[in-house]
Amino acid sequence: MPILVDEQTKTFHLQTKSTSYIFAIYCGRYPVHLHYGKKVKDIGAIDTIIDFTGRASFAPESAAYLGMDGSTAEDTGSIEALPMEYAFYGHPDLRTPSFHAQYANGSTITAPEYIGYRIYAGKKPLKGLPATYVESDSEADTLEMDFKDPLTGLVLTLQYSVFTNYDAITRSVYIQNTGKDIINIKSVMSANVDFYGKNYTLTHLDGSWARERHIHSQPVTNGFQGIDSKRGASSHVHNPFIALSEVSAGENYGDVYGFNFVYSGNFIAEAYVDQSDITRVMMGLNPFDFNWKLESGEDFQAPEVVMVYSSEGFGQMSRIFHRLYRKRLCRGKFRDAERPVLINNWEATYFNFNEEKIVNIAKTAKSVGVDLMVLDDGWFGKRDTDNCSLGDWVADKKKLPNGIPGLAKKIQSLGMQFGLWFEPEMVSPDSDLFRAHPDWCLHVDGRRMSLGRKQLILDFSRADVCDYIINALSDVLSGAPINYVKWDMNRNMSEIGSVLLPADRQRETAHRYMLGLYRVMETLTSRFPDVLFEGCSGGGGRFDAGMLYYMPQIWTSDDSDAIERLFIQYGTSMVYPSGTMGAHVSAVPNHQVHRVTPIGTRGNVAMAGQFGYELDLGLLSKAERTEVAEQIKTYKSIRNVIHNGDLYRLRSPFECNHMALEFVSEDKNTAIFCYYSILGKPNSVVDRIRLEGLDPDGVYVLQENGAEFGGDRLMNLGLNMKDKEDFASKVYVFHKK
Ligand code: DGJ
Repeated sequence: MPILVDEQTKTFHLQTKSTSYIFAIYCGRYPVHLHYGKKVKDIGAIDTIIDFTGRASFAPESAAYLGMDGSTAEDTGSIEALPMEYAFYGHPDLRTPSFHAQYANGSTITAPEYIGYRIYAGKKPLKGLPATYVESDSEADTLEMDFKDPLTGLVLTLQYSVFTNYDAITRSVYIQNTGKDIINIKSVMSANVDFYGKNYTLTHLDGSWARERHIHSQPVTNGFQGIDSKRGASSHVHNPFIALSEVSAGENYGDVYGFNFVYSGNFIAEAYVDQSDITRVMMGLNPFDFNWKLESGEDFQAPEVVMVYSSEGFGQMSRIFHRLYRKRLCRGKFRDAERPVLINNWEATYFNFNEEKIVNIAKTAKSVGVDLMVLDDGWFGKRDTDNCSLGDWVADKKKLPNGIPGLAKKIQSLGMQFGLWFEPEMVSPDSDLFRAHPDWCLHVDGRRMSLGRKQLILDFSRADVCDYIINALSDVLSGAPINYVKWDMNRNMSEIGSVLLPADRQRETAHRYMLGLYRVMETLTSRFPDVLFEGCSGGGGRFDAGMLYYMPQIWTSDDSDAIERLFIQYGTSMVYPSGTMGAHVSAVPNHQVHRVTPIGTRGNVAMAGQFGYELDLGLLSKAERTEVAEQIKTYKSIRNVIHNGDLYRLRSPFECNHMALEFVSEDKNTAIFCYYSILGKPNSVVDRIRLEGLDPDGVYVLQENGAEFGGDRLMNLGLNMKDKEDFASKVYVFHKK
């Protein structure tokens, strides 16, 4: 049983394949964290691992109190000196609490008592929210633990699911108002873990548009450190992921704790080191500008945090996230199916296209083996630039005289699939939709409405707006044979407010927006199960686990330069599997950074993701087109390993002048080694790169020349690589004999 309970000491021990996570209830009310890390059978007496007599200066004692009736309890240590499992405000832990609410009398004290727990096999879905899931109850066990504040009727349930074999634990919090008065939730963290000590490194993924998810690490020190988003999207700026690791941890060694939020909106993730050198890690909805009014009888479900512990460094942490997300976060037909190689017209034409041009791009693409033609922005309304028409999802007959059905049929008659771009959450002020419903966008009466890319955001906190969009998209998708949708979103939120919400619910708007968006996505993806949906937000501005629940692939970045992509894809791989990363070969000079890289390297970089093209292949030389046809053949022969195999990051572009990756199939029969040089160096030196994850006793044959290598030789001696030329690359495919 992966959840063990000691009834006497009220100790709860969650066990995955290699992890133990342990906490206990102290003084009948305080959940105290005991251990997170390598698996143990039994922890023995609790006071051998926790010092309950510790004191934090000026913090009140944990059990010493003066009751209303004058009763007292004995002096003890202070819980502020303890690692807590979840912390409330209004008792002797004076650090930032995991939960903060305001009650009818104006007070913000929450003093819950431990009520009890339930354990059951399996894992329930989270109401209205994306989350990891099970396909059979044997895959996970769930612990739910209730705390009740007798004065206000607040019931808070800590939810834990243990994915034993996937080696991960998920956490969330569910709140009910069982009292008669309103409760205002001001802050609710989905996970809180207090670690003894502060000798840690904090790692996160940050950047900007076209420069997403670069890896940054900082030593943890006293006080607050962390990341957040207040932008109404998980954002390009910080991804909702942090890792706490021991200082000496690296790619293959050391303790690493990864935390990833399954949510696409405002979040906070931080580490706080207190006066007792305890590091408190918290992750949840961003309390900034948040308030949720809970009427009597109402409930609130906080989003999920996925926690992964690895004793073998960041590489193992990532592989655990990848395995879980591939199979128990992504859903639908395309979770397992081999997905099409696509060509997208955006960088080939921008807004300047017509039916003939698109059909010609498709014809050339078909001749080299591309499966799917995607028509990007510009097909609707009178959208010849980005200053109009969002919301008017009706084809522009000037560009497409036969409409979307006519074009789709032409593409399909070539033997290709057809895909279409939408930006469903947006509205242009110059659109029929906005003229008909000027109050349908997020805004606050009397305030200016700031434009971003000359557009406003539809108010998805409103059910009528969501229903309208569901119908508008359904009409297009059922009116033509469409196989794929690219779902874009090109600005962040400002002046957040909804005209339908009362004053005391305005601060719910951003979260209600996400709930509305998730409902729209759930409805459309289940109504059109054969359509492959790809997420996008100006590239990777909403590349998060929440989106992956609805859409199994996401356009990783608007930067399609092969060298910039090394950094972006490497950083993204910290958490997200390769098969979720849309990656395209584009034209040179590259449109974002003007760099010229060989077509071979552009292909080799894109092959490490969900492969496609974004250029007019008709403009390439004949030789280049032959190379493209070869690339597609190679990719199709290895994509199963790239998407379903284990990823080993062998060299980081953040640390040296090249990047090396290796993908190994689950049965260890195929290994793909990818090497990318950044700059060529004169008299270049050898970097001997050892492969990983192979069968040491197996013999591996290099596909390109039949050379044979022992698995142990590849892993212990490695391959000699050099950076001879700028932007050169190599992909070696090994098959076990
Ligand atoms: C941003 C996306 O990331 C691009 O790929 C493209 O679809 C444009 N939007 C279109 O406006």
